[in-house]
Amino acid sequence: MVNITVASMDDVNFDNQLIVIGLYEDDSHLKTLGTNPILKVVFDYVKTLDKKNLDEVKKYGKSIMLGLNLNEKITNVLLIGLGDPEKLDTNRIRHIAGLMSLKSKDLGYNRLIVPGFLSDSTNLEPLVEGITLSLYEYNRFKKDSTTDGDHLPLDQDFSITLCTLKQTGEDYKSIVKKMKIICDGVIYSRDLANSPPNIINPAALAKSAQELEDNDNKTIVRVMSLEELEKEGLNGIISVGKGSQNEPKMIIVEYNNSSQDEKPVLLVGKAVTFDTGGISIKPSDRMDEMKFDKSGGCVVLGIMHALSKLNLPINVVAIIPSVENMPSGTAYRPGDIIRMHNGKTVEVLNTDAEGRLILADALSYGVSKYAPKSVIDFATLTGACIIALGTNVAGLIGNNDKLIHDLLSSSKKTGEKIWQLPLYDEFLDLIKSNVATMKNIGGRTGGTITAAAFLSHFVNNVPWAHFDIAGTAWTQDGTSDRSYNPKGSTGFGIRLMLDFLEESIESK
Ligand code: BES
Ligand code: ZN
Ligand code: ZN
Repeated sequence: MVNITVASMDDVNFDNQLIVIGLYEDDSHLKTLGTNPILKVVFDYVKTLDKKNLDEVKKYGKSIMLGLNLNEKITNVLLIGLGDPEKLDTNRIRHIAGLMSLKSKDLGYNRLIVPGFLSDSTNLEPLVEGITLSLYEYNRFKKDSTTDGDHLPLDQDFSITLCTLKQTGEDYKSIVKKMKIICDGVIYSRDLANSPPNIINPAALAKSAQELEDNDNKTIVRVMSLEELEKEGLNGIISVGKGSQNEPKMIIVEYNNSSQDEKPVLLVGKAVTFDTGGISIKPSDRMDEMKFDKSGGCVVLGIMHALSKLNLPINVVAIIPSVENMPSGTAYRPGDIIRMHNGKTVEVLNTDAEGRLILADALSYGVSKYAPKSVIDFATLTGACIIALGTNVAGLIGNNDKLIHDLLSSSKKTGEKIWQLPLYDEFLDLIKSNVATMKNIGGRTGGTITAAAFLSHFVNNVPWAHFDIAGTAWTQDGTSDRSYNPKGSTGFGIRLMLDFLEESIESK
């Protein structure tokens, strides 16, 4: 549990806490620290430090621990470099807040007092995000290990007081509360996505989603069994699931908190609980990472987790098709032709291009059943996206400029980087089939776009955007901002989407 409070500098008790002080290159931190006598003692000491060393610590992201015993109250101080004040944007603050928390945790401190970072409430959101998201660790299966040594025992409480010069009011409290709900959604999603594939199969994912149901009927969860999938003609999902003993499921979460006649936003997330590639089997190197092929679904569940607690006045439907893609005597094969939910046919040329098959059915079902005002999907869809954009930027493709614009604008705020790729008609030509409406792979070129072109066949003309999160859903070679993206699932997209949904209410 991480407990974050905001307090005025005059009201805090510095006793036995680790004091964390941010230093700007140009010493402008001095202005935000006020006249607190305890901090004055600290700064008098800091002034005596070697200038060269001090200048080094003031650089962005650098830090030094001062083992002080200035008096019985001030025992330990962590100095952390904030660099150039002009460059300290929300992304940097989020990262610094993460570094500060991890550094303190590493040194064995769990009670922190942080003066100076928080000149006004604008920095509060990234501070709470950086602290909360950095202290997350997937340790469910580490519980038996001994925790001797200098690390905190697992799940130890952490308390951080952020200090301001002003008196703090309800506005600060409500921002902390809101950000805590958002981060809890990210953590819920990370826990699911990090879970191993022998624990989380489609049925287990569905069971976990059922916990999102609330008592006041705002959030309703429905899980479609294989029989129901058959009845609805969701043959894309059924075909991909055929190779596994674990039957496919389609999870539907309906959140209704606006008038009945308001069209919902539809969210769709790919949840392949393990992607071996099927008959077109993947190489064994790093195949274990394909437990993360459920990340799109977990992101959507994380959004729904936060949404009901934020109580946003909006209608949202989430659909998560979930399968395990396995090779076996009952598996679907290259050469199969599938009639999809919307009647279009698909020639399967590679069973590893399974994500688009399950998403296509979910999109078609969602669009026809719910008549949404917009559709947004999240999927670890193509390795090609990692080649194109690396591991810090997700691909974004869609059919509606306003929707893309709004998503880009939310992305700028939350620091989850995205880049639009084009969906010209030529890409649709690349997936034409000789024997069916389309085939499930294009050629070697433009792999992320041909995958999206495939999906575009299933959304009619509803405004639609597709996030390819193959490179960003979990930490991989090259992942930056590791402080608040600890090893494993990142929950990329949840904060962005919640901002988008909130903004969509304000601009109604
Ligand atoms: N789940 C993978 C995509 C993926 C690969 C995500 C690596 C993250 C890291 C997807 O199902 C897949 O295998 N796609 C194929 C498509 C190809 C056969 C057209 C790919 O990207 O190689
Ligand atoms: Zn695959
Ligand atoms: Zn996959």
